[in-house]
Amino acid sequence: MPIEDCRIIELPKITDGRGNLSFVEGGNHVPFDIRRVYYLYDVPPDQERGAHGHKQLEQLIVAVSGSFSIELDDGRNKKQFLLNSPNRGLYVCPMMWRVLQTFSPGSVCMVFASMPYDEDDYFREYEPFLQAQGLME
Ligand code: TYD
Repeated sequence: MPIEDCRIIELPKITDGRGNLSFVEGGNHVPFDIRRVYYLYDVPPDQERGAHGHKQLEQLIVAVSGSFSIELDDGRNKKQFLLNSPNRGLYVCPMMWRVLQTFSPGSVCMVFASMPYDEDDYFREYEPFLQAQGLME
């Protein structure tokens, strides 16, 4: 899928005197059924997460607390995003190399995913990822 399909999705935000509430519905706010939720926390500010690609997995990545940056790379083009709001998420389509970094102290990265965890869905190395994109022999 083209990198242009990856985009920031605005999530509902219900505000009253008790604070804010946001939510994500599979098939509504994201174009997939949600089969898994995982989250990253206590990530040291000098550490990177991700640095891999997925064959089929679709994800919505949300900074439910704090902020971090995400670089997406389809092998040809790169796009940089800053996530810093609990009611905005980045939709990441399949076949996208992603690197998450510059986590602020106390930040929490919540990921809504279209499939259960499956190591066979990963590209852990960049060269096989490029080969699968038809960009390397
Ligand atoms: P990894 O995908 O490398 O994390 P990140 O995307 O943050 O770089 O996963 C780290 C470890 O956690 C790895 O051993 C696989 C395991 N893991 C699961 O068991 N279930 C999951 O849903 C995820 C995302 C990872």
